[in-house]
Amino acid sequence: MSPTIKRATRSDAAGGTGSAADFLPPRITLPTLRRAAAGCRGCHLWRVGTQTVFGQGARSATLMFVGEQPGDQEDLAGLPFVGPSGRLLDSAMERAGLDRGKAYVTNAVKHFKWVADPRGKRRIHKTPNSAEIRACNPWLDAELAVVKPRVIVALGATAAKALFGKTFRVTAQRGRPVRTEHAEAGFATVHPSAVLRAPSDLRAEAERLFVNDLKKVARWMETHAG
Ligand code: URA
Ligand code: SF4
Repeated sequence: MSPTIKRATRSDAAGGTGSAADFLPPRITLPTLRRAAAGCRGCHLWRVGTQTVFGQGARSATLMFVGEQPGDQEDLAGLPFVGPSGRLLDSAMERAGLDRGKAYVTNAVKHFKWVADPRGKRRIHKTPNSAEIRACNPWLDAELAVVKPRVIVALGATAAKALFGKTFRVTAQRGRPVRTEHAEAGFATVHPSAVLRAPSDLRAEAERLFVNDLKKVARWMETHAG
């Protein structure tokens, strides 16, 4: 990109309430989406994160995981779920008998939202708000339209809200199939970072429940062979 002065966009002026819809490519495939998303300025977060972290996986994936937003390591690598949460997700999938190689992994919001740690250089994750989730939703919708997964799994409340609506409660509905227009079935479970943050005496149980939810997804897919 040329080093010219950044022009204020509508979303900048409105404090982050634009939309990724203005950046969708005319022809929608994973490569065209990825390229277009790299230049997205649909909300103010393009200035906050280092780069757009688009979803990863094959168009033929039958299972789609949706997280919240890239974390610190994802922001730097440009790939979803490559940090601590991603490692836990990998290991939980393996224990549940789900193949990450056959899954598409993405996030509800494609830029890392963070604030500086007042005591140091660390970047502290900040949960995206509903305007940011809404602004970024066209990318997720387009990924769903191209991949057409059989099953989508929301990881945590942000993803569950983006996929299943504002009133969805992960704690009440985790591990059970949910009706959704986006796939044959939806599921929700906690975010892997919630497992990582659990107090040490509850950590093992939180992890067991997380793996258990993924086992239910695996079982659903086996018993509803499509
Ligand atoms: N947390 C998320 O929700 N997504 C990532 O990609 C990494 C951490
Ligand atoms: Fe675009 Fe989403 Fe990034 Fe906002 S967070 S600039 S809508 S890709």
